[in-house]
Amino acid sequence: MTLSLPQAARPLQGCVTLPGDKSLAHRVALFAALADGDSTIRNYPDSGVTRAMRSALETLGVPSRLESSVLTLTGNGMRPFPCSGVVAHCGNSGTTIRLLAGALAATRSSAVLDGSAGLRKRPMDRIADPLRLMGAAVATVEGHAPITISPAPLHGIEYTLPVASAQVKSCLELAALGADAPVTLHEPGPSRDHTARMLRAMGATVVSNGLTETVHPVTSLKPLDGTLPGDISSAAFLLAAAAIVPGSRVTVADVGLNPTRTGVLDILSAMGARISTENAHMEFGEPVGDVTLETAPLHGVEIAGDLVVRSIDEFPALAAVAAFAEGETVVREAKELRYKETDRIAAIVAQLGVLGAEVSELPDGFTVRGGTLKGGTARANGDHRLAMSMAICGLRAPVSVEGAEILNESFPDFEPLLSSLM
Ligand code: S3P
Repeated sequence: MTLSLPQAARPLQGCVTLPGDKSLAHRVALFAALADGDSTIRNYPDSGVTRAMRSALETLGVPSRLESSVLTLTGNGMRPFPCSGVVAHCGNSGTTIRLLAGALAATRSSAVLDGSAGLRKRPMDRIADPLRLMGAAVATVEGHAPITISPAPLHGIEYTLPVASAQVKSCLELAALGADAPVTLHEPGPSRDHTARMLRAMGATVVSNGLTETVHPVTSLKPLDGTLPGDISSAAFLLAAAAIVPGSRVTVADVGLNPTRTGVLDILSAMGARISTENAHMEFGEPVGDVTLETAPLHGVEIAGDLVVRSIDEFPALAAVAAFAEGETVVREAKELRYKETDRIAAIVAQLGVLGAEVSELPDGFTVRGGTLKGGTARANGDHRLAMSMAICGLRAPVSVEGAEILNESFPDFEPLLSSLM
């Protein structure tokens, strides 16, 4: 599918609510499978990546039902998954494969986790190595999927993550639930802490102290009942679209505002956009609220350090904003972007370059000079976020995006929701 958004003839205006957060959706489905009893989750998003977790769980013997955005699931408890020795397909979802690996190890289950050709290219030694330190029986193909997990007793360890990664942290937090002693994890940056918050809500003991976390083993977890907040990573594209169209004022209601995810709001406001939040409340131990963005003249910024970790999925959206800001935006200390659905540093630089923007690739980031993008035909390269990033550039220049159907992996409502603001 080729997507060409019409250039904005007037400011974007309005208020939208979004499908539930994908990171939380993966976790609620998997953690509900490990709970004793029935879980009910409202505002559950239905997209390619969330289907990956549900169908892998079904293969392992824990089916779920999704009707009118309400997910219901009967947990199997902290016992081995009912279907042993199966191959569970994780599609293109890194969160599915890495978190499931931890859950299979914790429950002494036996299964093979596999996925798309793209997923098979992503590094899995980052979970296999520490799982083995805990005593898990894990085999990979030269550090990649398929991953074979066999039952083995797990021990408590103290481990320093080499990179700030919520998927790795969550894999080990889950494995810790089935270990014979607590697991203490140190990480180099503030990756998203959804797993710790949700496990606490389910009755587990997870003690956090700055970038250190200790997870205690459990024998049982309470089921979940609640409403998922809107996905801030989807909101990022609508807010970025509003930021680049002068005069816009857009509100995204009931969106997740976990501080480990709100780097994008901090960066947009450092670039000059006016951002306010109201109606603060909590769901699943997560802060939620309404975010309003009003356009103002934008300027380039330097992004590095913890801000990169707190906005790790938002660089495609931010790169589009940088293309319409005055001056240069420089992103550094972001090498992890090379290990996403695509090498996002190379992909952002290549596609903004195709659209005529002045960009350059750094070993650990990229630069964009604002005001240089002219338009053209970009390619999504199999990356849902790149598709949406290039599409919003079309609000200010004649842009077509080839392969845009991939955005259905994460945000099938992207185009209708954006159109409702135009
Ligand atoms: C996620 C963690 C991040 C993020 C991904 C979702 C999660 O990945 O990029 O989209 O839900 O835990 P890493 O842990 O690889 O940084």
